[in-house]
Amino acid sequence: LPLHYLEALTRQEEELKEKLGLKRAIILKGNLEQDEETKTSLGFAVSSLLEEMLTAHTTIAITGGTTMANMVHYMPKSQQHYENLHVLPARGSVGQRVELHANTIAVELANKLGGMYEILTIPDNLSHQSISLIKNEPQIEKLLQKLGKTDMIIFGIGNALKMAKHRKEPQEVLNLLEQKTAVAEAFRHYFNAEGQVVYASEVIGVAPDMAKKIPIRIAVAGGKSKAEAILATRSLLQEGYLIVDEDAATAILNHL
Ligand code: F6P
Repeated sequence: LPLHYLEALTRQEEELKEKLGLKRAIILKGNLEQDEETKTSLGFAVSSLLEEMLTAHTTIAITGGTTMANMVHYMPKSQQHYENLHVLPARGSVGQRVELHANTIAVELANKLGGMYEILTIPDNLSHQSISLIKNEPQIEKLLQKLGKTDMIIFGIGNALKMAKHRKEPQEVLNLLEQKTAVAEAFRHYFNAEGQVVYASEVIGVAPDMAKKIPIRIAVAGGKSKAEAILATRSLLQEGYLIVDEDAATAILNHL
């Protein structure tokens, strides 16, 4: 790549880091939603970031979604061996596309890193009664405790309405999200542009307040359409790592 191009990207990374209060911003060339090359570079970027940070006895939690699925798919297999490395899904499973479930992605990430995994074999959209019952199941309780103590979380950020429709939320919820002008979704919580949670589905797994306490947070999102969502979830990104593509980065910086 020409030097001035790389310098411009580095400048943008510094600006994003400063303005969003991040530990580090990584900007990928191109568009993450469209370019195969950008998806490949995401896999490599995460792999080298993890290589810098992983030590023995690390636990990583990961969410679902296409960004996470692509990222892990394009990650090279780690050359390092990390003793006692565990990967956990941030939540259960939802939707028919099993390849996009946090569980599936956790398994693939563990394989890429040569670690162990555990899965949360429950649907992600249970009723209140079922959730209260299941939370007390010893096996689930144990996994939830482990999630509470995870060292690292890697997560996606989505557009509120798109995610709500994908999850087949009832019409009243869709109406509420529109009325409250929700723009972002992360950890099954919906945020408005000011960063307030305007609706949340009950969860078994990582919720935003829990995520904020995880020492190492890595958010990944791409495409111009995600800029607003990234800004709305900025409270989750404080002192964290943000990996975005050029399109999202430029749109975010135009907003700030
Ligand atoms: O469903 C998990 C999740 O991480 C959501 O919290 C987020 O909104 C979404 O995936 C992002 O999905 P995608 O990467 O497909 O845009």
